[in-house]
Amino acid sequence: MLKIKALRTEYLENPIGIDAQNPRLSWKLESDRQGVMQKSYQVTAALDSAFETIVWDSGMVQSDASVQVLYKGEKLCSGQRVYWKVKVTAEGETTEIEAAESETVFFEMGLLKEEDWKGKWIEAVREPEDIESYNPASYLRREFQVKKGLVRARIYQTAHGLYEFWVNEKRGTKDVFKPGFTSYYHRIQYQTYDITKLLEEGENVWSVIIGDGWWRGSTGGMYRNNFGYRLQFLGQIVLEYADGSKEVVGTDEKFKIAHGGLRMSDMKFGEVYDARLESKGWKKIGFDDSAWEDAPLAEGKYLNYSLLVPSRSVPIREKEVFFPKVLVDKEGSTVLDFGQNIAGYVRMKLRNTRKGQTISLIHSEGMKDGVFYLGNVCTDLTDNTHYQQVDYIAEGADEEKYQPFFGVFGFRYVKVTGIEQEILPEDFEAVAVYSDMEETGDFHCSNELINQLVKNSRWSQKGNFLDVPTDCPTRERSPWTGDAQVYAKTASEFMNVYPFFEKWLADVSIEQYRDGMVANSVPVTTSLHSEEEVNRLITENKCGFIVPGIGGPDGKPGVFDGSAGWGDVATIAPYTMYLCYGDRQILENQFECAKRWVDYMIRCAKDENEKQMERPEYQNFENGVRDADYIFDTRFHFGEWLEPYSEESGDPAEQDLEAQKKRTDPLVATAYMYHSAVLTAKMAEVLGKSEEQKYYREYSENVKRVYNKYFIHPDGTIVKGRQAPYVRTLQFDLCYPEMRKKVAARLAEAVRDNGMCLNTGFLSTPFLLFQLLENGYKEEAFAVLEQTKAPSWLHPVILGATTILEEWTGLDEHMNSYNHYSYGAVCDFLFGAVCGIQPLIETPGYKHFELRPVPGGTLSCAKATYESLYGTIRSEWEKKEGRIEFYFAVPVNTTARIVLPDGRVENVGSGEYRFVVS
Ligand code: BGC
Repeated sequence: MLKIKALRTEYLENPIGIDAQNPRLSWKLESDRQGVMQKSYQVTAALDSAFETIVWDSGMVQSDASVQVLYKGEKLCSGQRVYWKVKVTAEGETTEIEAAESETVFFEMGLLKEEDWKGKWIEAVREPEDIESYNPASYLRREFQVKKGLVRARIYQTAHGLYEFWVNEKRGTKDVFKPGFTSYYHRIQYQTYDITKLLEEGENVWSVIIGDGWWRGSTGGMYRNNFGYRLQFLGQIVLEYADGSKEVVGTDEKFKIAHGGLRMSDMKFGEVYDARLESKGWKKIGFDDSAWEDAPLAEGKYLNYSLLVPSRSVPIREKEVFFPKVLVDKEGSTVLDFGQNIAGYVRMKLRNTRKGQTISLIHSEGMKDGVFYLGNVCTDLTDNTHYQQVDYIAEGADEEKYQPFFGVFGFRYVKVTGIEQEILPEDFEAVAVYSDMEETGDFHCSNELINQLVKNSRWSQKGNFLDVPTDCPTRERSPWTGDAQVYAKTASEFMNVYPFFEKWLADVSIEQYRDGMVANSVPVTTSLHSEEEVNRLITENKCGFIVPGIGGPDGKPGVFDGSAGWGDVATIAPYTMYLCYGDRQILENQFECAKRWVDYMIRCAKDENEKQMERPEYQNFENGVRDADYIFDTRFHFGEWLEPYSEESGDPAEQDLEAQKKRTDPLVATAYMYHSAVLTAKMAEVLGKSEEQKYYREYSENVKRVYNKYFIHPDGTIVKGRQAPYVRTLQFDLCYPEMRKKVAARLAEAVRDNGMCLNTGFLSTPFLLFQLLENGYKEEAFAVLEQTKAPSWLHPVILGATTILEEWTGLDEHMNSYNHYSYGAVCDFLFGAVCGIQPLIETPGYKHFELRPVPGGTLSCAKATYESLYGTIRSEWEKKEGRIEFYFAVPVNTTARIVLPDGRVENVGSGEYRFVVS
């Protein structure tokens, strides 16, 4: 029987507060028959769930489109709720046409016009604060009347800072870390919630706490006051009554403001909460707030309503919960071990406290030689460093409870101080907090270490996808572009990251420099210490500048910005999202940014590197163009980054950044220039931009010619001893076909010479195994995958890692972050090669895909599932008595090409399939 399920609007379930005029609708189909494809659909949308006021009837459309179907009905207005359902007909290979009708779902529009905003931005504090120190969170409250006959109430809010809100003492949402992180001076998200059920006739109260957040916290890089130093708030409640009347209660001077118990609320350095200073009952109706001050209206150019956009991604939510084991470390400290490295916080219950008793929780990722250890992520620790720390100052009671409001920490261990009686594990729970993306993928095989690696990778994704993709949840917490592009494909396998990336990539475009350079970390953060600096920042933004993170607050790119492999997020991430979800929107949104980035690289390549002028590429011309013009040998690049030691590459740990700055190794930069030009040409093709397609394709061919001429020796050698240059060359298809075999042979040699250990860094690691496999070195590929000696993926697993480390030997040396997802990109090989589930660019989004599993190594079985936009894809195999049994599942409305190891190829429709290969 045909069934329709999982209806989504803009990738979300019944979203409230969207602004797309043609929202993307999607549904999944299920059937117990084989080879079923959708034949037609009819979407009906109405302003009421009884479908009396129809705003769109698509009519029966002969089409197999079941994702990204655009609403094309009447123009949508602010606050309007639209109900929709779909009727589908589908046909199996041997069956009659079947029909089905879906349940009804809805979406609701946010505030679409600036005039819809009646609330005004208010300051959360009256007096100027000392901007060099941590300041308390702000408490805001406002009482208001609700008349009889309320039928609907919505709240719209945002803040400079992070906000939490309550209506009549009840928390208004499960979403946390609102309003999320965007390029705040260009756009700031507001949230919409339905609060109808929280209101009562008569008096009501709206209460808010605002903490530092990304706005004035120290989450990006090392700085504080990332975007500003004044906490501000904007919101309005819209009340609708049965008689059709409407009332708006907006933020204005009637709001009362004060400080309370939350004395410090930095996302990274932590919180201080003094329960003695909390005004009892301040969230209650009728609380005497006469001692509170009136909120002043805020002023400033960046308070424009035009910057407001509704939330564009999934919300951040509290997710898994862990309970600890209580340990005493070698120094006698009490340490809670939650068993899993996460990003989040701890909820605690305290018993029989004394007034003024201070309980501290300090969060760390590791232990060193049996002692609680923070040094791997914070090197300048002194006894006074308040780092990833929560201090709770008790009021004195039989029981007190606390959980951080706005702090989020990377940790597995928590050192507890200040509790005199026995510490009960049940009084503490660690909560993982991350963007609430749907989990889509899982992989399991006979090697338990690999299974743990998969878990570790998924946990590193969870630990780093907090509205933006960060490098780590501890040290920098910056949305580094390189890390995100390296991991994008793997991220899409574990979770549905489309809305997450669509939202973040918009900021990558917005913050692109005028010359096309892309910052290394987006949104770029800085440290603001005066109103003049804020104003200069805004003025410079208008001129197209953004504020650099590492470069200092001078409105110019930092010296490290625009690194090859990092800036290429502009092409790689949208292309990857298109490949995995098939949504043209991402290409339309990002094409200009991609193009400008490639044009920037092309210009940089034309610039002369004075130190290279003697080299032959500067002397040779073809068609009047100097070969060196196709070699990107200028500007700073991080290079392969964190490549393990090899004779030729040198030990990167010993190369200080100054030395690296001078390094303009053209190998990496030229390869990325080529790759990005190729991807831009492909995007242009999809978008029907034939001129651009031709231009970037031709350009890339010239780069390939020059790369082959100067960088690849006749025997295929690129750089002896290193693996990364070979991997990159093969992966990007940068060598001429006749050289491919030789280049691959040199890679395989480098792997064997290194004792079957990898020695790739950030950029090439995801492709190493694919390239070994694809070029005939399956044995080497699996040997490296299952390797347990360092450097390898499984070495940290053996040492007990529960996430992916920044450094291959991080746990041996207690060095650097323990939660950096990028090396976890090897999981793409598990999904895409070991189980062989691969999307195809001609039929993106797994509409037609490949199943090409490769049993290998010591593995006796492997299975992967992937929840595509169409439904569940499965690929499993098991070795049994000299044979291998394969099992596949293909979702309705898709087709797959199954390629078996014995060379058999089968094109199949939806359904389940089994094969045996002897
Ligand atoms: C970050 C990386 C980032 C890199 C730039 C590091 O400090 O943690 O993940 O990509 O800097 O090379």
